[in-house]
Amino acid sequence: MKKYKEDVEIFIPNKKIGDKLPFAAKEAYNLLRTNISFSLNKKEGKGNIIGIVSAEPQDGKSFTSLNLAYTLAVDNNKVVLIDGDMRKPTIDKYFEIDNVPGLSDIFTNPTKEYPIHKSVLTEKMDLICCGTIPPNPSQLLSSEEMKNILDNLSSKYDYVVIDLPPINVVADSLGASKYFDGIIVVSRHNKTRKKDLQEAIRQLTFVQAKILGIVYNGYAREGKYYYRTKKNYYYYEEKNKGGKE
Ligand SMILES: Nc1ncnc2c1ncn2[C@@H]1O[C@H](COP(=O)(O)OP(=O)(O)O)[C@@H](O)[C@H]1O
Ligand SMILES: [Mg+2]
Repeated sequence: MKKYKEDVEIFIPNKKIGDKLPFAAKEAYNLLRTNISFSLNKKEGKGNIIGIVSAEPQDGKSFTSLNLAYTLAVDNNKVVLIDGDMRKPTIDKYFEIDNVPGLSDIFTNPTKEYPIHKSVLTEKMDLICCGTIPPNPSQLLSSEEMKNILDNLSSKYDYVVIDLPPINVVADSLGASKYFDGIIVVSRHNKTRKKDLQEAIRQLTFVQAKILGIVYNGYAREGKYYYRTKKNYYYYEEKNKGGKE
């Protein structure tokens, strides 16, 4: 396993997230939302649990998780965004909130009220930070308690969106994938290498994760053809093969 820690400064360009996204990106997220709602099976009295992964760090998992959660919430869904990257938490930085308490602290104190923050972006979006950095994130995320936590949350929310660490670097996301109704794989324009993406998909397929599709993050054409970027800025491909139902 490669080294993976908080060694890259997280730069948030003018906080251009949620409502401040460029028009083309907002449109692409709307399309992503529609595709997701068609791809997931509705569960009686339970919301859907969606994991966001990618091959490597910096592909835009956190950025995608956040904007997807926002886009679902403004469409009148109750959404909770969880920071499941216990090695490089990010959600606290986007929202300038304390990372502790958060997800990992629920494991230590499961009967206590969950540490849920309200998002400043929109009313129906809540946040759970990563919490105290644990020594064993992989074990926590794949544990039975994780299943219980997600189960509890899915009975209160229409969507539970989890921002996860990179597949090719740490095993955390693969271990937890069995608890998700669907997984979205982020691939970043001019960054993600084909062989790394293939490897991530190979690993997800091996654990029978239900891959909903790939988000092609960060692609935008400039200039007078800008309007044409509507469908291309973030590209979502339905790719439901190989996963369990
Ligand atoms: N489509 C995008 N447009 C602008 N900035 C982006 C985009 N995707 C990611 N970023 C920025 O790139 C950096 C890495 O993204 P992040 O979501 O933290 O990656 P990951 O979670 O995969 O490590 C962050 O500073 C983020 O704000
Ligand atoms: Mg991240």
